[in-house]
Amino acid sequence: MKTVEVGAIGVGWVGGTRVETLSRTALVDKLHICDIKPDRLAELKARYKPATATLDYQDIIKNDNISVVFISTTPETNHYPIARDCLRAGKHVMLEKPIALELWEADELIAIAKRNNLKFTIGYSQRFNQKIAYAKKKIVDGTLGKVVSILVSRHLSRALGKKIASRVRLSPVVMESTHDLDFVMWLLEPAKPIRVYSQGAYGYMEPINGSHDVMFTTVTMDNGVVVMIGGGWNFPESFPNYCSTWIEITGTDGALVLDDTARDHWLNTEKTGQVFPMSTMPGEQVDHVFAGGMGPETIHFIESCIQNKPVMVKPEHARMVMETYSAADLSADRGEPVNLPLTNETVAAIADLKARYRAGDNPAMQK
Ligand SMILES: NC(=O)c1ccc[n+]([C@@H]2O[C@H](COP(=O)([O-])OP(=O)(O)OC[C@H]3O[C@@H](n4cnc5c(N)ncnc54)[C@H](O)[C@@H]3O)[C@@H](O)[C@H]2O)c1
Repeated sequence: MKTVEVGAIGVGWVGGTRVETLSRTALVDKLHICDIKPDRLAELKARYKPATATLDYQDIIKNDNISVVFISTTPETNHYPIARDCLRAGKHVMLEKPIALELWEADELIAIAKRNNLKFTIGYSQRFNQKIAYAKKKIVDGTLGKVVSILVSRHLSRALGKKIASRVRLSPVVMESTHDLDFVMWLLEPAKPIRVYSQGAYGYMEPINGSHDVMFTTVTMDNGVVVMIGGGWNFPESFPNYCSTWIEITGTDGALVLDDTARDHWLNTEKTGQVFPMSTMPGEQVDHVFAGGMGPETIHFIESCIQNKPVMVKPEHARMVMETYSAADLSADRGEPVNLPLTNETVAAIADLKARYRAGDNPAMQK
């Protein structure tokens, strides 16, 4: 049986979830883990007994036996340099979203992967949510007729919003609705987005990092389909990293409503009150079974590498998603729609907006 040696760089929450699956599968011959936090590295080393554990990702780069690398680091600023180094070293890469913070960085990663004939994909784990896979099947087999509209409303718990806000100023559309933009555009392939109008509202997050609590983004596709995506991170805690999603797809021949609010399994104890387990976006290992998308997504990428099959999420698609959420940020800032593809003027305006955020400019505080 063909197996591979795999490296996991960044083994926090999501990287730890990847490592759990990687340590169980027979497709992985040797597992190598890396994190800059010695305590977290030691914890995972003791739990999963990897072949090696290192504090320096250059050890993964230098190891020629490692052909596949999962990158799950934060802050998101380090996605580009670490992915670039891995791809330059000839490794197949699965990188968590966002693909990069700048469009040129994404372009460079895509170009290196292509030049070196490597698999490169982005962790849009909702593609492995069985409800969303079902939506794709029902659209492709024609059950719904011509799709007319798609609505997605996603809310995450505020502890998660706060965790993200503590490391970087990225908006809910960049960090959360990105998943929805990804799978909606996948559902609607080959249609492309042509116009974006986004509005954000301030609340709990405003004093923390000036970010919106919730953003509602309307996307018009070039085939006339209208998409509405709401994404926020101010729900009260209902389970660690709780996420609740509601999806409505209408078509000329039918409608599909997907309830992914995780209310169909609840646990009630004297200690915690009512909570909704197995409700996080990546999912979690539950004894012998993985409840959620990230387990199967991890295996799918390893199989793509071993069998030389296409990856589920093409990096060019992730780049289109990036262009769309960047337009959404600009739209929310300007209070007007932004056309896609971006023009020289809007690319420059997005760069200005990011520079303002980096400099600590906080529009919420100026009201
Ligand atoms: N697909 C999903 O559903 C999903 C869900 C949550 C987060 N994410 C994405 O996954 C990524 C990780 O998020 P998280 O919540 O696990 O973050 P986290 O902060 O829990 O973990 C990140 C880890 O990276 C480590 N790290 C930082 N720099 C490093 C370096 N140079 N070398 C090695 N390790 C390094 C940190 O020490 C930390 O342990 C983020 O980019 C996030 O956007 C995806």
